[in-house]
Amino acid sequence: MKAYKNVFIFDHPLIKHKIAILRDKNTGMKEFRELIEEITTIMTYESMRDVKLIPVQVETPLETTTQYKVPEESVAIVPILRAGLGMVNGVHKVFPTAKVGHIGMYRDEETLQPQEYYCKLPEGIENKTVFLVDPMLATGGSACDALDALKKRGCKNIKFMAVIAAPQGVEAVAKAHPDVPVYVSTLDRCLNENGYILPGLGDAGDRLFGTK
Ligand code: PRP
Ligand code: URA
Repeated sequence: MKAYKNVFIFDHPLIKHKIAILRDKNTGMKEFRELIEEITTIMTYESMRDVKLIPVQVETPLETTTQYKVPEESVAIVPILRAGLGMVNGVHKVFPTAKVGHIGMYRDEETLQPQEYYCKLPEGIENKTVFLVDPMLATGGSACDALDALKKRGCKNIKFMAVIAAPQGVEAVAKAHPDVPVYVSTLDRCLNENGYILPGLGDAGDRLFGTK
């Protein structure tokens, strides 16, 4: 895959360890959910390296000092339903007061085209750093459409996070939204004829919610 300036692939040994367990078809729903959450928290830390901190005065037991904090109310989380819901708590671990919007998308199983069925976003989202989250980036259709929807609402500062991605999904988002940093914990080999990521982990929504 060509290198894109806005794409960041994590190569962290701890993430690799967790991904190995996540992929295993014998990993049950509870552990799967916990792993998605833990990986998301690690990714959130890494993706905030460029955050603008604000100065605050702190009184230590000894003196007053100028320190720096993240303006917490400036963050929002938007999961792409359903599977993105599994990543919300992982971001909330870092930003517990972040407001949450929801974008509902499903892929038509024949055409693989995303269909939007729900969109509810917090007021003032256009002025926040928005974490758009979805564990799976396959063809990239869902992510591109969700990014279009957020931009239509005026969002200017969006970060997209996916746990596992196929090269064509990464390329589709990187090309259509060059202004959006794309954080991917693991880049997989390819898609199969049904649009599933290989080696992948199967259907993330079903494994998170036990629907199959
Ligand atoms: C999955 C996944 C992404 C999408 C990725 O959702 O969670 O949203 O597929 O595929 P794409 O990159 O080709 O668009 P799915 O449509 O299975 O819906 P679900 O989360 O409700 O199961
Ligand atoms: N959605 C999933 O849940 N898994 C895939 O491999 C591709 C899309």
